[in-house]
Amino acid sequence: DGQGRRVFDLLAREGRRDFRGDGRLTRTAGFDGDFLGPTLRAGRGERVVVNVVNRLAEATSVHWHGMHLPARMDGGPHQPIRPGATWSPTWTVDQPAATLWYHPHPHGATEEHVYRGLAGMFIVDDDREAALPLPRRYGVDDVPVIVQDRNFSRSGQFKKTRNMIAGIGVLGDTLLVNGTVGPYLDVTTERVRLRLLNGSTARAYDFGLSDGRPFALIGSDGGLLPRTARVDRVQLSPGERAEIVVDVRPGERVTLRSFPPDLGAGALADRFAGGADRFDVLQLRAAGTLAASPPVPDTLVPLDRLDPASAGQTRRFTLAGRAINGRSMRMDRIDFAATRDTTEVWEVVNSDGAPHNFHVHDVQFQVLSVGGQAPPPALGGWKDTVYLAPQRPVRLILRLTDHSDPNVPYMFHCHLLYHEDAGMMGQFVVV
Ligand code: C2O
Ligand code: CU
Ligand code: CU
Repeated sequence: DGQGRRVFDLLAREGRRDFRGDGRLTRTAGFDGDFLGPTLRAGRGERVVVNVVNRLAEATSVHWHGMHLPARMDGGPHQPIRPGATWSPTWTVDQPAATLWYHPHPHGATEEHVYRGLAGMFIVDDDREAALPLPRRYGVDDVPVIVQDRNFSRSGQFKKTRNMIAGIGVLGDTLLVNGTVGPYLDVTTERVRLRLLNGSTARAYDFGLSDGRPFALIGSDGGLLPRTARVDRVQLSPGERAEIVVDVRPGERVTLRSFPPDLGAGALADRFAGGADRFDVLQLRAAGTLAASPPVPDTLVPLDRLDPASAGQTRRFTLAGRAINGRSMRMDRIDFAATRDTTEVWEVVNSDGAPHNFHVHDVQFQVLSVGGQAPPPALGGWKDTVYLAPQRPVRLILRLTDHSDPNVPYMFHCHLLYHEDAGMMGQFVVV
């Protein structure tokens, strides 16, 4: 594990990009560049400092999604960065290797800022992950895949028209992967690891390969799974991540696709929420000769199961309309105080007819059950965001450690950003 210090500079600014090669420039925003931002990377045990400069015309913030860190470094709505200002959060990375991400979180404008392009990946490394025979050459056989959907107006601008029937926000008809339309990846190794991030504001994806071949699912939001799962699909709602390893054969082309996701809201409601949509996501183009890659191990990292019997608290969260437990987000209201170094069970239910999901800041949780059943392999590791099908309760267990602060809250919310902005969010402190 690292002992070092990592200093990053991130400059939020406006930009322009010709996404479709037709000369029409889309007004965008990005960190450092025109759209999205650099992948940040740090090892467990390292001290991180990020100097975030806001060159936008409005206030924003930068939240470290999935990171365990003090609330005042979290970059939520209570840490706004005024235009022209610099914010320099610092923390020590203290969690397993994982694929995390960062994005703005200004109250009421998160959807807008993310839609314009402000987001990036944050990879955490550790010794355990480094000791496993997994592909890890960044950009060669270990590749970030940030998936986002957009609509374009006639003049080429991002169009934020919301589908009012589904009521979940913007569903785009054009897919971007790392900001690219119609992308492909030249693969030079027998196995390639894809770090999938659903960076969309509302759309869920059900990822699979064009010929139906299985792949190795090795990681979820908070890091590697205890065991590799051989699956042919992995579904991600907004904010969720999965790490997969795909086997390729010399000279072939195979496409990562999104198949119609199962949103669990019934055929009609699913369809309005994007449940019938298919996309080509990323074409893999294998070279004629491929460098050897070791087989993916069956056993990955040990997972200490949190025990519900050790939980000191059970909390219930009902998501409906634009509120949680009937309350809409208020900056000046703390919804509850949790006690440091205790374990809690959270029972979360979507009591609407439409999709929601649930994200918690600071912690990674374990999923105890979904609709009363044991969770599928994709939910068998550490998670910070979980999909909520209507009327299907999800039980989570989490442990609050280290960072207590009675004055600065963490957020919990639906990560469909239109819902979050509209008030489907609450705040808790750890004391
Ligand atoms: Cu990725 Cu509170 O968000
Ligand atoms: Cu978050
Ligand atoms: Cu929602």
